[in-house]
Amino acid sequence: MLSSGVMPVVLVTGAAQGIGRAVAERFLKDGYSVVAIDRNGEALRSLEGHVAVAELDVTATEAPAKAVALATERFGRLDCLVNNAGIGAAKPVHLTTDEELDRFLAVNLRSVFRFCREALGVMQPGGCIVNVASTYGLMGNVAASSYATTKAGVVGLTRQMAGDYGPKGIRVNAVAPGVIDTPLTHERLKNERFRRLMVETTPFPRIGTPQDVAGAVRFLCSEDAGFVNGHVLVIDGGWSATNYVASAVS
Ligand code: NAI
Repeated sequence: MLSSGVMPVVLVTGAAQGIGRAVAERFLKDGYSVVAIDRNGEALRSLEGHVAVAELDVTATEAPAKAVALATERFGRLDCLVNNAGIGAAKPVHLTTDEELDRFLAVNLRSVFRFCREALGVMQPGGCIVNVASTYGLMGNVAASSYATTKAGVVGLTRQMAGDYGPKGIRVNAVAPGVIDTPLTHERLKNERFRRLMVETTPFPRIGTPQDVAGAVRFLCSEDAGFVNGHVLVIDGGWSATNYVASAVS
């Protein structure tokens, strides 16, 4: 509930599963009205509460306008936007085709830019945007060229928008998750090489959950984060802050 007594409204992209699902469920639990969109409309139907769902591909020309119109028509306002929809599993530069690069740019970066622009058209002072970036957007890793390119772009867009819209009372932040157990990574987490890269180098004795990210997104949208603007909140158990190697610990 906002201090004005009004129920706040959040739009979450990619809300059918994984991190987006956990974000939508967390906001519903905390009393928000939620607009949940995904290209997989079927899976959105099981979301329960004050929710409006729509099957939309975030790369479609009309998707941002349709999603924002759903928020204003059903709930009368839009307070927060969470740009979460994304794809993974990229390759090194020399193995990446133009088509693959364009797909990553379209889903992970261009759609974020376009959803932000549409949301700004209706957001009032006090509104906020949280973009889901990645630790891969902050530091180099292995074989993730187009993915890392888009996530670094999301970080740059976030910081730039913080400067442009902070003066209007709209905060723009990002989260940068490390490895989180979702359908995107579930199979890869069984792969020995991936575990060496991401799990054995994390100085915390468990893998991240979608709820870990949802909690951070919820914080960034809260009044407790009312002076947090242009920040990239890393959620990775200390992976990117350290040179930790499990096998080196006696
Ligand atoms: P996921 O694959 O489990 O879920 C992604 C959701 O986005 C799916 O419901 C999918 O249908 C939807 N989606 C994908 N492309 C779409 C499109 N064109 N239009 C509409 N919906 C679309 O992935 P996960 O792990 O939940 O990832 C969510 C976000 O978190 C992504 O932006 C990802 O890059 C980011 N992330 C994930 C990490 C992880 O370890 N799982 C780590 C760092 C960032």
